[in-house]
Amino acid sequence: MVDVDSFVAEKITEIGDAIGDANAVIALSGGVDSSTAAALAYEAVGDQLTPVYVDTGLMRKGETGQVRETFDYMDSLRIVDARERFLEELSGVTDPEEKRHVIGEQFIREFETVARDVGADYLVQGTIYPDRIESEGTIKSHHNVGGLPERIDFEGIVEPMRDLYKDEVREVARELDLDMSERMPFPGPGLAVRILGEVTEEKLAVAREANHVVEAELVEYEPWQALAAVIGKATGVKGDNRVHGWVVAVRSVESRDGMTARAQEIDWETLQRIQSRITGENENVSRVVYDVTHKPPATIEYE
Ligand code: XMP
Repeated sequence: MVDVDSFVAEKITEIGDAIGDANAVIALSGGVDSSTAAALAYEAVGDQLTPVYVDTGLMRKGETGQVRETFDYMDSLRIVDARERFLEELSGVTDPEEKRHVIGEQFIREFETVARDVGADYLVQGTIYPDRIESEGTIKSHHNVGGLPERIDFEGIVEPMRDLYKDEVREVARELDLDMSERMPFPGPGLAVRILGEVTEEKLAVAREANHVVEAELVEYEPWQALAAVIGKATGVKGDNRVHGWVVAVRSVESRDGMTARAQEIDWETLQRIQSRITGENENVSRVVYDVTHKPPATIEYE
């Protein structure tokens, strides 16, 4: 990217030329990539663009409210409450790849309903360069709206940021005054890949709260990603009782593009504060551990 103002101006013109008088849709996740692509496309075509936010129930704490607030100026914004449908589809699913598949499928179904309803001819996507590289490999089947072009006959797909790295996307987001410009990346399948085994309402509630604590407590370390995962059950003691509670793993990594990562060194006091908040705020959590593994050999997410 040469310079950010000319990139923005150029992309707005390009998107406008590509879409013309037609209708377009974009899946908004609340993250930097899709938000930036949506803001660029909205500048280009206004309400001809319908941004669709599917509330899967697998999102970060407060995410839906934040999306509503940030994109309030877009009259065409659609927020779909699909929380119950996702939980139902995920019931009994334990295999990580199957989980991704179920989430991807349900997401497409929800999105396709809106795309058909508005008669969208174009699909705008916040794909960035590392997404293209990673999905060429077979490390994990990344969930995005990649299955849509097969299901709906779009006239075209518009990917304004397909050649950018994450740090360049953040520059564009800052230029557009988006308040999520510095947000950590969050995986498409959301908290589901931070829960080992079946996704249940109880595990989701633990994961949501724990991720909220970890993000807030580790912000000063400026991690690429800081997260919490529900990884199993272990015995603990709370008050006078032995409990068989959830084990939460905390992870904080540095990275440029997510393809490799280094576990961060976090001071003991901060780790203890995180432990005490997570076990204190969730009566069914008995243990908190810190993950010291780099990528490779681990991946950033747990599934
Ligand atoms: P892993 O866990 O593969 O993650 O080391 C690398 C980066 O990709 C994100 N990630 C995903 N993003 N759909 C996404 O949109 C996915 O299925 C997915 N899985 C992992 C992860 O958060 C990290 O930034």
